[in-house]
Amino acid sequence: MPISFSEKNKTFHLDTEHTSCVMQIGPSGELRHLYYGASIASGDDLSSFARRRDRAFSPYPESLTANESLNIANLEISSFGSGDFHNTAIRLQKQNGSSVTSTVYSSHTIRKGKAPLPGLPASFAPEKQCETLEVVMKDSFSDVRIVLRYSVFENSDVIARSVTIVNPGPEPVRIEKLMSAQLDFESSEYDMVYLQGKWARERHAVRVPVHPGMQGFRSARGSTGHQYNPGIVLASRSASERTGEVFGMLLLYSGSYAVEVESDEYQALRAMIGINDETFCWRLEPGAEFHSPETLLVFSENGLGGLSRQYHSFLMEHVIRSPWKHVRRPILVNNWEATYFEFDDRKIYELARSAASLGIEMLVLDDGWFGKRNDDRSSLGDWFVNTRKLGNLGKLVEKINRLGMKFGLWFEPEMISEDSDLYRKHPEWVLSVPGKRRSLGRSQMVLDMSRKEVVDYLFETIAGILHSANIEYIKWDMNRNLTEIYSASLPAEQQGEVAHRYVLGVYELHERLLNEFPNLLIEGCSGGGGRFDAGMLYYVPQIWCSDDTDALERIPIQLGTSLFYPSSTMGAHVSVCPNHQTHRTVSFRLRGDVALAGTFGYELDITALGEDEQKQIREQIGRYHQFNDLIREGNFYRVTENFGLDDVSAWCWVSADRKEVLMTAVRSSDSPCAQSPVVRLRIPGLDPGLIYRMQDRPFAMHGSTLMNAGINASEDLRGNAVSVLYHLKAE
Ligand code: DGJ
Repeated sequence: MPISFSEKNKTFHLDTEHTSCVMQIGPSGELRHLYYGASIASGDDLSSFARRRDRAFSPYPESLTANESLNIANLEISSFGSGDFHNTAIRLQKQNGSSVTSTVYSSHTIRKGKAPLPGLPASFAPEKQCETLEVVMKDSFSDVRIVLRYSVFENSDVIARSVTIVNPGPEPVRIEKLMSAQLDFESSEYDMVYLQGKWARERHAVRVPVHPGMQGFRSARGSTGHQYNPGIVLASRSASERTGEVFGMLLLYSGSYAVEVESDEYQALRAMIGINDETFCWRLEPGAEFHSPETLLVFSENGLGGLSRQYHSFLMEHVIRSPWKHVRRPILVNNWEATYFEFDDRKIYELARSAASLGIEMLVLDDGWFGKRNDDRSSLGDWFVNTRKLGNLGKLVEKINRLGMKFGLWFEPEMISEDSDLYRKHPEWVLSVPGKRRSLGRSQMVLDMSRKEVVDYLFETIAGILHSANIEYIKWDMNRNLTEIYSASLPAEQQGEVAHRYVLGVYELHERLLNEFPNLLIEGCSGGGGRFDAGMLYYVPQIWCSDDTDALERIPIQLGTSLFYPSSTMGAHVSVCPNHQTHRTVSFRLRGDVALAGTFGYELDITALGEDEQKQIREQIGRYHQFNDLIREGNFYRVTENFGLDDVSAWCWVSADRKEVLMTAVRSSDSPCAQSPVVRLRIPGLDPGLIYRMQDRPFAMHGSTLMNAGINASEDLRGNAVSVLYHLKAE
């Protein structure tokens, strides 16, 4: 049984196939964290793990002794103002002005399956694959109930956590802070591994030792943002790609979030993840409840690679809902870098025609098809076809469909230009403090997605366009962050809700569009990869990784992204050289090999290519068809350490039966003093007893040899910016 409760020890035991999590109702009703890690037997008494130290200069609940201070306990949820002096997870302000909060066990239930989280993305599973524990805690300073929810996915080694606050009344309370999950450790001997970036350099992996004091990262952008990603790994100091104990926390949320890590005076460690309280507070009326976003907890003793694969398969099976997730996506060509705003129906048709002749399967019309938009200063919000540029969209799409090509269209639903009919009609629909200074980003403002009428308007206009032509894909862009977060439709005491309500509005719009168009393929995007998160993946199966399509720069972006997210979610394309972002020229071959690791497509003027490049496109498309099933469904391994930040990087996919492998290796720069003069690549994940044959060379070796001794790739990787694919099959 994945979840059990021992009445004798007041202990909950949560078990997945390879992990256990144990917690206990403490002497003052607090929920103490006893253990999370590799599987242990249930029934053994771990009570002695409940306390960190015997003495503390810390107050304690009056029913307890000095040694039972909450400040020296490992807790499942910590509360503000009642004896835990760390950063705490929950702070509720009552009508008397006090924010003192304390959570005390009240009851619990264990049930099969998992309920959805209203309005929020959440993992799902058939009843037999998941069991849920709900521990109801009561605030000692009000009637509020705090429901801690643990859904145990036994076969996936994942525990999904979320918190619901229920206010039975009689007075409203203000939720000032609510983290989704907390992990307390008795030692700080860990490294933090997380993703940091900026525009055109998204999600580079960072690894730093935990140091004494507070640390962490967050977004206050109203969106996930380019800067960090809402997930953290705590890795034992010696953990590598293949070995070592690692703990992951990944938030299903696309708004402002915070990751708080604190190593205290006892070198004990607390990590928490949830909504960023800087831009959040919520007035909870009597009778109402509030749901935190969900966090996915993963433990692996197989290093960072093991953790990544657990997240990948979990997201594929239990988070991404799209019917496209297990399907080979159409190879697309996007006109953005080919034309920017300079196009008409003839040019778009020409692109489609050339693309079709090469085997490309979908034309995506990017920014500039609507309103009177010919640059980035107007028309966002006016989702009506610019007929002067395009004529009749339905007819154009029909012509393109007749070429055997699908058609996709760009939208930026959440934005509005000052120069737009929509703004002239509804200036109050903009997020801003009325009458005060406001900020622009790319000349545009942000729609108040907390307003129902805004979501209704967007649904109706976007659905209208989608019904008007055979549009099978949309690219959902979002090109600025939120500032002056204020809604003219909410009263003063609810302004702290706007940022979260915005995200709920975005999710609602997605939900409504997907209900109306269940087979629509949506690619998320945000000025490149500024909103790449597990919350979004609940609605879209793929997200554009970055506007930086330079093949070499894409390697750390894609390998960083792979810390949490599977290959099939990464929008990756071949673009023209010199590259528009880096001005670098690398071979067409390398560009194709790197883009193969994602959804695959082209971002260039297909009509302007020479014969050699056209030939290479045909070859690349052949490789895509040959390998995409393996890439999408196989197990992903980072073959080299350091997430693509070294001179030589390699990664591979291994089929579930371990009989087929595709490995990509790249050398970005070479010199007589290169970091790795001899490149030996040990291929992980194979069956040691099988013999693997290289598909295009006379080469065969045992799995054990390939895994432990590896192959010498030095000759294949001579020079700068070179790549090679190794395709192996077991006999
Ligand atoms: C940012 C996206 O990342 C680009 O691919 C392109 O769609 C532009 N926006 C269009 O404005």
